[in-house]
Amino acid sequence: MKIKCRDLLKILTFFIILFGLSPTIVAQNLKKNIVKSPDGTITLEVGTNQGKVFYKVSKDKKSILNESYLGFELKGNSFKDNFSIKNISHSKFDETWQQTWGEEINVRNHYNEMKVSVKENSKLTRELVINFRVFDDGFGFRYEFPEQKNLKEFIIMDELTEFNFADGHKTWSIPYNTAFYEGLYKSNPISKLDTVATPLTMETKNGLFLTVHQANLTDYASMNLARDKKSTKLKAYLTPWATGEKVFTKVPSTTPWRTVIIAKSAGDLMLSRLMLNLNEPNKLGDVSWIKPGRYIGIWWAIHMEKYTWKAGPNHGAKTENVLRYIDFAAKHNFSGVLVEGWNKGWEDWKDFQFSEPYPDFDIKKITDYAKSKNVTLIGHHETAGNTINYENQMSDAFAYYKKYGVDIVKTGYVGGKLDGKQLHSSQYGVRHYRKVIEEAAKHKIMIDNHEPVMPTGLQRTLPNLMTQEGVRGQEWDAWSKDGGNPPEHTTIIPFTRGLAGPTDFTPGTFNFTNPVLPNTKVHTTLAKQLALSVVIYSPLQMASDMIENYENNPAFEFITNCPTDWSKTVVPDAKIGEFVTIARKDKASEKWFLGSITNKDARTVKLDLRFLDAGKKYKAKIFRDGKDADYEKNPYPIIIEEKEVNSKTILSVDLARSGGVAIIFTKF
Ligand code: NOJ
Repeated sequence: MKIKCRDLLKILTFFIILFGLSPTIVAQNLKKNIVKSPDGTITLEVGTNQGKVFYKVSKDKKSILNESYLGFELKGNSFKDNFSIKNISHSKFDETWQQTWGEEINVRNHYNEMKVSVKENSKLTRELVINFRVFDDGFGFRYEFPEQKNLKEFIIMDELTEFNFADGHKTWSIPYNTAFYEGLYKSNPISKLDTVATPLTMETKNGLFLTVHQANLTDYASMNLARDKKSTKLKAYLTPWATGEKVFTKVPSTTPWRTVIIAKSAGDLMLSRLMLNLNEPNKLGDVSWIKPGRYIGIWWAIHMEKYTWKAGPNHGAKTENVLRYIDFAAKHNFSGVLVEGWNKGWEDWKDFQFSEPYPDFDIKKITDYAKSKNVTLIGHHETAGNTINYENQMSDAFAYYKKYGVDIVKTGYVGGKLDGKQLHSSQYGVRHYRKVIEEAAKHKIMIDNHEPVMPTGLQRTLPNLMTQEGVRGQEWDAWSKDGGNPPEHTTIIPFTRGLAGPTDFTPGTFNFTNPVLPNTKVHTTLAKQLALSVVIYSPLQMASDMIENYENNPAFEFITNCPTDWSKTVVPDAKIGEFVTIARKDKASEKWFLGSITNKDARTVKLDLRFLDAGKKYKAKIFRDGKDADYEKNPYPIIIEEKEVNSKTILSVDLARSGGVAIIFTKF
């Protein structure tokens, strides 16, 4: 008996050495076409049906995706059937890496991988590899086109990837053709969806939360989702070139990852780092020049039509005005001042000149003064979507700014189509945005990209891509004819757009009147504006209001103290579209910051402080809605008070209609 056991062990060791696999994987290979998450709760299976490849997924033995087919229409032929599986290989991975900046420092990248190689049975015998990675919080997969005889350069006319959801879930999304993704996320049953942009978030009848998106969008078209009109099956819809093709590529190449987060609560969606894990590690090497921060700008005053972008009597970028903003930034500990409208071209928003300031903007005087005050000028390149004009000047434009010590540039692409032709999220747009980030990195410049393609986690690879718009931000509360963003908007964003990455929403309103459009305004209370600094994550945050509106307001203390780089994030409680509470720990200290916001309904939130260090006492400085605060009638009342708390405390706080609470926790 003893000998038999030893022999068995030897045989097992032989196979482990032979295949370089650990015992778990040997066991898994018995069911080779199945891969499970490391915790075993998610199962992904592949198979073929009449020559078509499918995958299906379950969580805790309940189906998430039924048989969902994979493949492509290429120019001239299909690449979707007549396949047989030639090989399946398994591996696993577990590593913890550190973010340059982020919502937390340490990220665990832990998955089981299954690579499935398929080959056509037809004359062409072309090959395709599908690489599946299953994590404890979801999965991702991508197609790989290996070197081969009968596939060289090719054009993708349609990606046929399906997401065949098992149930009629509730969803949140914006339509695919929403300009710059600046739309209000609507809740619909999956059966009512048309073509939508990702992230698409769902709540299932079993109480699970799912988000479909993509990771590492590189030299490919952005993926949207179109519903099969007869069912709840969704299919990839790639943003086309003006000429109708989707992607021009050649072997060897890969598609972006198609991702699905699977979470047990809405809050857990926000804690998933699956998208970042499916991007490549930092390629920039030394990143000591990359610094998150908080800044102010002449921005709201321009949107409120107090100043103009173009030169003239009310020109916002006038030297004296900018110096005033620099003084304010220095006094209140802001790292930067954003100045838009400093360069020639704003008369007709066309041929912008990126190294030619208006005469009343003395860049040398301004940047010298800023430097003496330890503040940086934040640059601005509005391209109006004219990428050719921008690419022609880009390198010189970054060098020009850099010469004056400007190392953050906000870029913008306002305009129907890029160069009047291409959609922002087409392969053309994706290539352009990438070029800009890479060129900026060569000059050690950080980017805040407005009117972008939806983010997909690229900041892991190129951490100078700090933040992006791609959201209906607070500027809509200045000029939108529909009155501005409704109260629930910011209770949905963290679970939709926010899952795609840092979001330049620009909260910070302290004055709620709008002299230009009196019926358009910020639909929150003052306390909710403070809380949004924590709730909507961005490593560069602009306190958006005019500086005059911050002077002498004690609530400003929260904004000037709130960091933009975190060592840890927790989501104690959330319900999509209703309320959300987030707490984040400062990367540079032991302080925690909490933000909790509600939709149009007043509510009492019970804040469970178990995230604080056990056994320690903290001072909680609380900024909460005051008596009679109401986003419609009177947004201003705010109570600022201090309490002693610890990790066992449950704070009960009344939030006004579209109100909030913001708290700073300092250890005694
Ligand atoms: C739209 C951007 O979102 C906004 O922030 C900017 O001020 C204008 N374009 C001008 O570039």
